[in-house]
Amino acid sequence: MPTADTGSENSVAQGPGHSLVVRDVVTETPDAKSLVFDVPDELSERFRYQPGQFLTVRMPGEPAAARCYSLSSAPGVDDSLVVTVKRVAGGLVSNWICDEVRPGDRLRVLPPSGRFVPPSLDADLLLVAGGSGITPMFSVVRSVLERGSGSVVLVYANRDERSVIFAERLRELAERHPGRLVTLHLLESVEGLPTEARLRDLLRPFASSAAAFVCGPAPFMDAATAALRDLSVQRVVVERFESLTGDPFAEPDLPPVETVMGPAARVAVDLDGQRHVLDWPKNAPLLDVLRADGLDAPFSCREGACSACACKVTAGQVNMTRNDVLEAEDLAEGWVLACQALPATDEVAVTYDE
Ligand SMILES: Cc1cc2nc3c(=O)[nH]c(=O)nc-3n(C[C@H](O)[C@H](O)[C@H](O)COP(=O)(O)OP(=O)(O)OC[C@H]3O[C@@H](n4cnc5c(N)ncnc54)[C@H](O)[C@@H]3O)c2cc1C
Ligand code: FES
Repeated sequence: MPTADTGSENSVAQGPGHSLVVRDVVTETPDAKSLVFDVPDELSERFRYQPGQFLTVRMPGEPAAARCYSLSSAPGVDDSLVVTVKRVAGGLVSNWICDEVRPGDRLRVLPPSGRFVPPSLDADLLLVAGGSGITPMFSVVRSVLERGSGSVVLVYANRDERSVIFAERLRELAERHPGRLVTLHLLESVEGLPTEARLRDLLRPFASSAAAFVCGPAPFMDAATAALRDLSVQRVVVERFESLTGDPFAEPDLPPVETVMGPAARVAVDLDGQRHVLDWPKNAPLLDVLRADGLDAPFSCREGACSACACKVTAGQVNMTRNDVLEAEDLAEGWVLACQALPATDEVAVTYDE
């Protein structure tokens, strides 16, 4: 089993990301643990987050692996950052975290990212969670109740009573905020797997909520989103808990410039209030070009799946090799994923500053 990074503070030699100390490891259920991270003052700005966002954590070793884990802590409510990890049978990283990571270990972590974020903490939300899908929802619930004026209906499906993460804390929250949190538990051990029809009946009274958020195992999410679509819920936001296939902590070498593709394009990039103008080889993703030039362009998955690298094209055109996350409206507004963007015109301008 790989051991946690016990090296010194962040260094360029260790590549992207930051080394955070695990202050505590909390057993939530027989299958789930929370890691509580201390964030030093100098990184507090970088690790500022919104409810529903996730961290990307690196498991060291050969080969190293990285996985995304949603923050279960609530910004502006909790001092520390907390992720909650549920074991996946045979899973590489979830079992390593649950079995091997100890208080005092340092883990390499990428800053918070993600778009599974409520439109407002003052809106009435419908949250539909299955199993570990509760993690981002718990952050949203606590943010709405403690910092906003909205109310929340949480439909929460689990295998059995023992596997309900945050059961006691949800009960306490409902008591402390009367009328603002309703939790409807669904237990497979009692009524079998939740079907689309069952979810439709359960969700119908709440169909006028400002937005519905869905996260859980794939079949559960399919049933829930189909039910919500049937009920014409205004806005449905989903988070898919999939494993990264690559290692976003490894800074890739730029691919060789293939002259057959023609000379490099020129790209003007607005980032952190400064304009940079660079050559952009036609076969290299924009993110790699920027980072190879020493620019601190944001990213997380490097797989076109998270949108942490999104920037807006203001002139010229780009093509994306993969896009699992930007919607048609985003594309129409000019948003692209820098980790997947190749130049389609000789001159391109993009901005990160919007
Ligand atoms: C944005 C985002 C946020 C996430 N947040 C959380 C979180 O808060 N808590 C959490 O526990 N996980 C979360 N995940 C899932 C997490 O990143 C890993 O996918 C999960 O821990 C499994 O990784 P592994 O290395 O243990 O398993 P792997 O070695 O990647 O997979 C082992 C086997 O299990 C299957 N598998 C993979 N993932 C799952 C799954 N989720 N359920 C069932 N089978 C699976 C695979 O197909 C494979 O056969 C999140 C994922 C994303 C993309
Ligand atoms: S880094 Fe995740 S989509 Fe580009």
